[in-house]
This record gives sequence, C-alpha cells and structure tokens, in this order.
Amino acid sequence: LPALGTVRLTVNGTAKTLQIAPWTTLLDALREYLNLTGTKKGCDHGQCGACTVLINGKRINSCLTLAVMHDDHEITSIEGLANADGSLHPLQTAFVDHDAFQCGYCTPGQICSAVGLMNEGQAKSEADVRELMSGNICRCGAYPHIVDAVTEVMGIEKQA
Ligand code: FES
Ligand code: FES
Repeated sequence: LPALGTVRLTVNGTAKTLQIAPWTTLLDALREYLNLTGTKKGCDHGQCGACTVLINGKRINSCLTLAVMHDDHEITSIEGLANADGSLHPLQTAFVDHDAFQCGYCTPGQICSAVGLMNEGQAKSEADVRELMSGNICRCGAYPHIVDAVTEVMGIEKQA
C-alpha cells in the first residue's frame, strides 16, 4: 500500500487532521474526505474555476493543488462564508437578489472567487470585475447577473 501523508488543515475555522495519499488534491480532500461538497469539480484541471476556495484569504483552484501542500493553512470554502448565526455573506445575498445563477454549479466558485477579488483590492471598475473574474466559467451564461451582484457588493458603479 502507498504511504499515507498527514496534513493538518483549518477548514472553515475547524482544525482537521487527514491521513491521505500525497497526491490527493485539495478539492478531493474537501469533497471526499471532509464531505464538503459545496466546492464543485468541473474540469479537474484548472480551466473552469468551479473548485475555487480561499487559502489564507487568497483564491485558488483547489483542483490544481495538493492537500499536503497546505499544512497549517486556513481554507475557506463556500460552506464557511455564512455567519455563525446562519445569516449569509453579503455576496451570497447579492447572488440571490440578482438571480446570479441558473444551474448553480459554478456558483460556489464564483462567490469564493469574488471574496478573493475583494481581498485583493485591485478591481475598480465593472471591466476590472469582468477581467479578474474571467477564470470562473459559467456554462449557463449567467455573467451579467454575476457581475451585477459582485459590483453591487463592491460598491462599483455599473457602466451604462
Ligand atoms: Fe478546478 Fe475546473 S475543477 S478549475
Ligand atoms: Fe450554471 Fe453557472 S449557473 S454554470
């Protein structure tokens, strides 16, 4: 049998210790070992953004990184964004208010990516939001409403 590696992750504020094969992606660690299936597997090779989570506040495609590389890192997935009292993160509320999804498969990744975008502090315009969110693909084409939701929360004025 292959040797298992030990990794300690803080996931949505809770410390977790996993015994996993060293080639396990962070995405599979979340979904298969921790039962956090909110993070989606679209392409499994870095092209769709459905697997986006936050590591120490920075967005990352979790299918492209190995869980063992994140010992002692803080992982936030879509399940960790709401407040302890159940009230939604402002981006989650905005996605609901703006109908920013159809099938919803891309939505957890879109929302985590938008949280990362806000942490980066680079986006100043609607065009910036479109450009800097371009790694998150929506097969339903819900982009106009996704942009509406993100720009509203960021306080960016919509272009006419
Ligand atoms: Fe990771 Fe598509 S599943 S980018
Ligand atoms: Fe269906 Fe985006 S809402 S993929």
